[in-house]
Amino acid sequence: MKSRSLLLTNIGQLLTLRAPAIESGPRRGAQLKELGIIRDGSVLCLGGKIVSVGLTKDALRDPWIKKRRKQLDEIDCSGKVVIPGFVDSHTHPAFVAPRLVDFEKRIEGATYEQIAAAGGGIRSSLEGVRTATKAELQARVLDALRDMAVHGTTTVEAKSGYGLTLESELKSLEAIREAASRWPGSVVPTLLGAHVVPKEFQQCSQKYVEMVCNQMIPQAARRNLAEFVDVFCDQGAFTPEDTEQIFDSAQKHGLKVRAHMGQLSPTALAPFFRFRPASFDHMDHVSDEDIRKLSRLDTIATLVPGANYFLGLKAYPDARRLIDSGVAVALATDYNPGTSPMISMPMATSLACTQMKMSPAEVISAATINAAWALQIAQRKGSIEPGKDADLAVFDVQDYREISYWFGANRCQITVLQGIVGSSQ
Ligand code: NIG
Ligand code: FE
Repeated sequence: MKSRSLLLTNIGQLLTLRAPAIESGPRRGAQLKELGIIRDGSVLCLGGKIVSVGLTKDALRDPWIKKRRKQLDEIDCSGKVVIPGFVDSHTHPAFVAPRLVDFEKRIEGATYEQIAAAGGGIRSSLEGVRTATKAELQARVLDALRDMAVHGTTTVEAKSGYGLTLESELKSLEAIREAASRWPGSVVPTLLGAHVVPKEFQQCSQKYVEMVCNQMIPQAARRNLAEFVDVFCDQGAFTPEDTEQIFDSAQKHGLKVRAHMGQLSPTALAPFFRFRPASFDHMDHVSDEDIRKLSRLDTIATLVPGANYFLGLKAYPDARRLIDSGVAVALATDYNPGTSPMISMPMATSLACTQMKMSPAEVISAATINAAWALQIAQRKGSIEPGKDADLAVFDVQDYREISYWFGANRCQITVLQGIVGSSQ
């Protein structure tokens, strides 16, 4: 796969998401609505990077472009919308099978927690991953990445977490790495060894935490298999004390941290701020005091409404309260077999609009530039600016608000991943 020299012209609406005058971190409050829109825009990409961004008429007058126009692959984007490729900053793609029994049980009235306590949930996905070959897992992950790109995603954070033995967690991370090497987009790998305590450690969960800290984390770090360590900190999973212990180990081994927080029950965030977490995800339950603290930090609140939708919950995270208090919010799919079998970022944005009352402008910032901040890669990703990676999504709509409006249909026509063009049609 080789990146091409690309010139996109006549773009109806080019959403640059360029930095406001004073760029000082993730977007908050009213900044989320500033999309930096250029009408009749143009983007030049060379060697997998964005080189210039502006008006089509200026691009076509540029002497450098005029001289080489024949050697450039030109894409006419008349009547279309171009946005930075979506950054899906929370996914669990390393699993083998859908969880259809859980799906049916929930429809019949059981809750996520009841199903998990009865042996379903995350634990019922473990056997498949433990017995799968690395090649099988790699193929599953790659299928998901390709499907995501068809819907406009160019960067994916990918977690392990369905093996929960030393060997199968490392195998999952290797499968993620191998899938990533076959995909032109960008993948950020995360070790989620602390997803749930597996059955064999149920009577001695501290021993499992020690295994995560003393074996999984050091080995994943030494072999460069993960950038982040994640913990599912909640009832039925890991305690705040376990989480601190795991974060300590991550820090000691040079890995950054993020966590599933406040999905099922409230958890005080104060003990974790010293680890400078990149993101707290879900955040269905969060106190006013923690919201005040978060509004002063660069830790992102990553909201995943696909999980609330698929669990059939009436309540969604209170995005308005978070945004209006100045917390930097991102959106992700939480792609996983238990709570969110959804690969589509446009669908995540649609749910955020209709269920969490985010505006169609806010959801774009949350799913691109702030999601890049959630992965600490905003210097390379999340906006269309010279010097950044050539990650773009072309939508066959006239107005960006249609991206969240037409739910259940894919309007993404072309995805550019580090200068490599993938087309859905
Ligand atoms: O983000 N909450 C923990 N992890 C996933 C669910 C995983 C599963 O049920 O398989 C989530 O919702
Ligand atoms: Fe998750």
